[in-house]
Amino acid sequence: MTRTSDQSMSTRLAHAGYTIDKSTGAVIPPIQPSTTFARDENYELIGDYVYSRTQSPNNEHVEQLAADLDNGAEALLFSSGMAAITSVFETVKMGQQIVAPTIMYYGAQDWLRWIAERRNIELSLFDPTDPEALQRTIKPKKAAIVWIETPVNPTWDVIDIEQAAGLAHAAGAILGVDATVAPPVTTQALQLGADLVFHSATKYMNGHSDLTAGILVTKQADARWQEIKFVREHSGGVLGSFEAWLLLRGMRTLALRFERASNSALKIARHFANHPKLEAVLYPGLESHPGHAIARRQMRNGFGGMLSICVTGGAKEALAVAVNLKLFIPATSLGGVESLVEHRASVESPLSKVKPNLLRLSIGIEEPADLIADLEQALDHA
Ligand SMILES: Cc1ncc(COP(=O)(O)O)c(C=O)c1O
Repeated sequence: MTRTSDQSMSTRLAHAGYTIDKSTGAVIPPIQPSTTFARDENYELIGDYVYSRTQSPNNEHVEQLAADLDNGAEALLFSSGMAAITSVFETVKMGQQIVAPTIMYYGAQDWLRWIAERRNIELSLFDPTDPEALQRTIKPKKAAIVWIETPVNPTWDVIDIEQAAGLAHAAGAILGVDATVAPPVTTQALQLGADLVFHSATKYMNGHSDLTAGILVTKQADARWQEIKFVREHSGGVLGSFEAWLLLRGMRTLALRFERASNSALKIARHFANHPKLEAVLYPGLESHPGHAIARRQMRNGFGGMLSICVTGGAKEALAVAVNLKLFIPATSLGGVESLVEHRASVESPLSKVKPNLLRLSIGIEEPADLIADLEQALDHA
């Protein structure tokens, strides 16, 4: 069967990278580890590649798939999510403004503070729970990049991508969306008006907690995109061939894994919504969530596998629940097939605004009833 972009995303994902090798009949693409690529007797390159820091076949397979999934002009693969994010912000010039939410992936916010201080860039943070806050924060002509995350990690507040794109464009800025927890199977950020979409492929894209990678997809291969390419090539943040091959393998099951995690997270959120030992359950799939209506509009196939619970009490009570869990693994990261629990206030910077009683849950693909039973017993014993 031939793949076409008219087929559904789960079909395109399931067949990712399949090209029948004429000499062996092999279905799966090979790993090409060569760092260098030869020239012929006329000193012309034999193939399309020169040197693997610039481009290599396994990286290209993932980039083609990522651009296709997000309906972008081009995609770039990086050695980690942070390598991709830092490459984007390397393009901001002195005196310009970067706008981002107060609550977001803290590692990215730490980097924004660091680069802003050194380059005389204005970093302005806005409250993602206030729909008017972004408009008040963007400075026309000065703003270069508005960077949002939605749902926001780890409170899962929802930001309206279409509205943010309109505000960014009116100010002369671009909109970048960190869609790590809302991969293209659920959210099409470029179609909603974003200029750049980012995925920490370490999470849902790969889904098996066994590699770090980052993906950027652009709506247009414009001047900024050429600069981002330049930064990747010269800073060397490219992925190795084996990891790229492994990532493509992980991506083939993205639709299945995401659907399962989303269904289970919704069951868990509903089950614990009024639990006496919980102050709140934060999940955009709950009708009571303040961002539910926007989430319904921009998340088409499930609300994702990420939710947080706020334990009645403080850090002590939340940590007691975390250590009593038997199935959830107490570890950082998200989007893998195994469920994880994390006390974010213990790992984020002292500037973090995350509440001390919050536990972040990354729901995997286990039987949801087992996850519910584990949470019940941990809450009982805490
Ligand atoms: C929402 C989000 N963005 C970006 C990153 C950074 O990605 P990486 O760890 O692959 O560098 C993470 C990592 O936890 C994340 O959760």
